[in-house]
Amino acid sequence: ADSLTGRDLCSIADLTSAETAAILELAHAVKANPAAYRHALDAKQMVMFFEKASLRTRLTFETAINTLGGNAIFVDQTQSPLGERESLADMARNLERWSSVLVLRTYAHETITEMAQYASIPVINALSDLEHPCQALADCMTVQERFGNVKGLHFTYVGDGNNVCHSLMLTAAQLGMHFTVGTPKNYAPKADIVAQARAIGNETGSHITLVNDPVAAVAGADAVYTDVCTSMGFEHEATKRAPIFKPYQVNETLMAHASPSAVFMHCLPAHRNAEVTDAVLDGPQSVVFEQAENRMHAQKALMLMLLGGASLKKSPTHA
Ligand code: CP
Ligand code: NVA
Repeated sequence: ADSLTGRDLCSIADLTSAETAAILELAHAVKANPAAYRHALDAKQMVMFFEKASLRTRLTFETAINTLGGNAIFVDQTQSPLGERESLADMARNLERWSSVLVLRTYAHETITEMAQYASIPVINALSDLEHPCQALADCMTVQERFGNVKGLHFTYVGDGNNVCHSLMLTAAQLGMHFTVGTPKNYAPKADIVAQARAIGNETGSHITLVNDPVAAVAGADAVYTDVCTSMGFEHEATKRAPIFKPYQVNETLMAHASPSAVFMHCLPAHRNAEVTDAVLDGPQSVVFEQAENRMHAQKALMLMLLGGASLKKSPTHA
């Protein structure tokens, strides 16, 4: 496809490597000159349905659409899952009559893919149990800012093989980064996502490696990423998981195994002094608030492309 107009973003795998690179290219341009895009999505209406809590995702989507000239309506679905009062198909056939884009945060990933199937307007995954694609776009934008051309960089994720890990793995593969995952046994990323990432990596030169030893995972890494060990919806497993994930804590001792110029990354919110110590999270290698800022820029670029405010043209310089 030569255009992303009208498409959905349920999974990073919905995008080709070139499309992901083009979104990030536009994200850098939007960040450098936001005023140029101030009216690019004039009067566009975004509707958001969130079954889970959010600070960053909600606020960055709302500020993004507002500063592109559009408007957001937020619907809190934390008390009633989507599809309960009315079928997703019927919701979709209503919503597409009034709005330009739907942004969904859900438990079941299928809630998002089903809405996307029925709605004629773009549907964006703002986090499901399976993926967090908007996070991965912002994270890779952040790595590009730090390192320039990211092809061949060594990106390590330690902790739970969760939604954030899945989207990062796919995006890293698309950009030609080597991606190593260090998880406890039984907490590895899903095999079908790993297979998808490896298939992409065969084209881009990215190697995907799964290990159980956190030190081996981090050795020589350019970026060390972690996330909570109990995601939203898994809180009841917190007591069981805490001791299992203890050896995977990113602290100064573990960071010492990474490259001296390595960055520390986290999607936030963090459970401080659980998966990461304060010394690392607040330390000089941490880029966590750059990541948070870049959520807004990357999502602006994404919406510009999905809503036809920008087209895919020239070849990207970052990939
Ligand atoms: N990183 C992230 O998605 O944060 P929120 O859950 O606050 O949106
Ligand atoms: N993996 C975490 C990410 C939160 C932004 C969760 O799903 O709760």
